[in-house]
Amino acid sequence: MIINNIIKKNLLSEGKTKKIYETNHPLKVLIQYKDHITAFNGLKNKFLQKKGHLTNEISSLIFEFINSCKIKTHFIRKFNKIEQLCYKVNMIPLEFVVRNIVSGSLSRRLGIKEGEHISNAIFEIFYKNDELKDPLINDHHVVFLKIISYEELNTIFRIISHLNCILKSFFLDKNIILVDFKIEFGKNHNNEILLSDEISPDTCRLWDKKTMKKLDKDIFRIGFDENMLDIYMEILKRLNVG
Ligand code: TMP
Ligand code: ASP
Repeated sequence: MIINNIIKKNLLSEGKTKKIYETNHPLKVLIQYKDHITAFNGLKNKFLQKKGHLTNEISSLIFEFINSCKIKTHFIRKFNKIEQLCYKVNMIPLEFVVRNIVSGSLSRRLGIKEGEHISNAIFEIFYKNDELKDPLINDHHVVFLKIISYEELNTIFRIISHLNCILKSFFLDKNIILVDFKIEFGKNHNNEILLSDEISPDTCRLWDKKTMKKLDKDIFRIGFDENMLDIYMEILKRLNVG
């Protein structure tokens, strides 16, 4: 298929929820969102029709907003229902988690009940390594492992601090509390650090401001699988209204 001179070429890689295709442009790739939802490192894995379409739409809207705030990302534009045109990056094998409210693994790790407000926004780093089950590590581990330098980590922390501010108010405008989120970064051909991957109810905890109802993948993690499409549609509706 040719759209605006972009031609989809060979499959470059396939993950649990996405496929990446090369294109005729050496610096651009197509990222396809699959109709799969997974949790617990893929242990729970379900086919969910239309899910790829919904998460592509949601993540595209959020990245359009982030681009408009002048944060450098891999995202160029939504290409079609299930694909985005993005800059090609080498992914940095780290997951950065930002927490505004205690939930999930932080609640379990520190024995603090879910829902407590965190005034200083906690930043965490997880090492993406399936064999080790993505352990929590710190900045010194990252440098010791030669993944990125202290200087690059500082750049990333500056970006995520800014990102947290703009995303909190972006969601609050839609009556959603941004409890926490996970983001990943990649490096482009110039070694520049770009915010990459996906931002959606799969990678954030989003609570309704009035009812505190969960509007994210925790619904699937808990086991209410059949409600997940409604959650994506509710988030999409709110993003489109604002
Ligand atoms: P956690 O409380 O389970 O550590 O999750 C923190 C945030 O990161 C939450 O918004 C969900 C998100 N997340 C992912 O996007 N992918 C993952 O593999 C994990 C474990 C969490
Ligand atoms: N993203 C991970 C998985 O797909 C885990 C999670 O989000 O809970 O398995």
